[in-house]
Amino acid sequence: MTKTKTMTKNMTKNMTKTMAKTMAKNMARTGATNPLATNPLSTNPLSTNPMSGDGRLKIALQKSGRLSEMSVGLLEKAGISLTKSRDQLLCRAHNFPLDVFLVRDDDIPAFLATNVCQVGILGQNALLEKQALFAEKYAALEEVMALGFGRCRLSIAAPTSFEYRSVDSLNGKTIATSYRGLLEAYLRDKGVEADIVTMEGAVEVAPRTHLADAICDLVSTGNTLISNGLQEQDVILQSQAVLIKNNNMDSELQEIYEKILSRIRAVLRADNSRYIMLNSPIDSLDAIKAVLPGSASPTVMPLQGREDMVAVHAVCEEEVFWTTMEELQRNGANSILVVPIEKMLD
Ligand code: PRP
Ligand code: ZN
Repeated sequence: MTKTKTMTKNMTKNMTKTMAKTMAKNMARTGATNPLATNPLSTNPLSTNPMSGDGRLKIALQKSGRLSEMSVGLLEKAGISLTKSRDQLLCRAHNFPLDVFLVRDDDIPAFLATNVCQVGILGQNALLEKQALFAEKYAALEEVMALGFGRCRLSIAAPTSFEYRSVDSLNGKTIATSYRGLLEAYLRDKGVEADIVTMEGAVEVAPRTHLADAICDLVSTGNTLISNGLQEQDVILQSQAVLIKNNNMDSELQEIYEKILSRIRAVLRADNSRYIMLNSPIDSLDAIKAVLPGSASPTVMPLQGREDMVAVHAVCEEEVFWTTMEELQRNGANSILVVPIEKMLD
């Protein structure tokens, strides 16, 4: 997997260069001004009044890659319709005061730190790596909530021939990674001294080419490791997509942010909830209620023409497994129906 990635070493310099290039290209097309050309606060391309902004919240999302589709999908599920064109840096929501910046995930923290955007969606790993490297610069960025997609882990892996007993086996060895900040912190914590080679991508080929003895990289399915003869040894970090925000948001934007936050919460809750309907003998109602997963107070209704049976409807805030349905059935329930919930608001 080899996409061009900014070298961690000269990160700030290269990041600015890469961002400037992408923006220039896209801005030329849209006729907008580069937001980072001088002071990002005063040259926001969407601002009518650069000091107070244009009253629209700006969110930074990954342009392409593992989180991209799910991030856009989440906004759409939250009822925000976007112009679909992906080759543009900017999408405008036409039914919500929100503008979407589609950028490289590596650049998202910088968009927030410079206040070009106030919120963003990216991998926890990417945020934590930036904060490990540049603590002060990214101190105002805060993780708001985990979004439940884009799950992966940052792991140390070594060739199967490497006799790996514990992380101590890495003493005096060389490790290739795109996550120098997180790896350094981990090794420091474990008291291990190793050399770190920073690579942009294709980290998994480093041992084969004798660039390094081991690697530290993202693992999702594990296929990349297997196809490169590597074995996962230590998990440094479990990661997933998170919503992040800049703590210095002005009050006007804060209101929009809170609205979007409540919608995203509702979407996630609905995604994780099921509506369950069944008919239950009155006698075993208590037993059936006890089996219903994650549901506080089900609605119980009479069934016409049946003195002995009632209908039970409940929202279950967790998955309803086949085993649960079978247990309900064993307790006398029938006509059990489990359906997804599209929207949910308290
Ligand atoms: C990541 C990582 C591995 C791969 C792991 O790369 O660097 O190469 O995904 O996924 P798997 O366990 O499902 O095989 P990514 O696709 O993000 O591209 P990059 O290496 O260019 O950043
Ligand atoms: Zn990769």
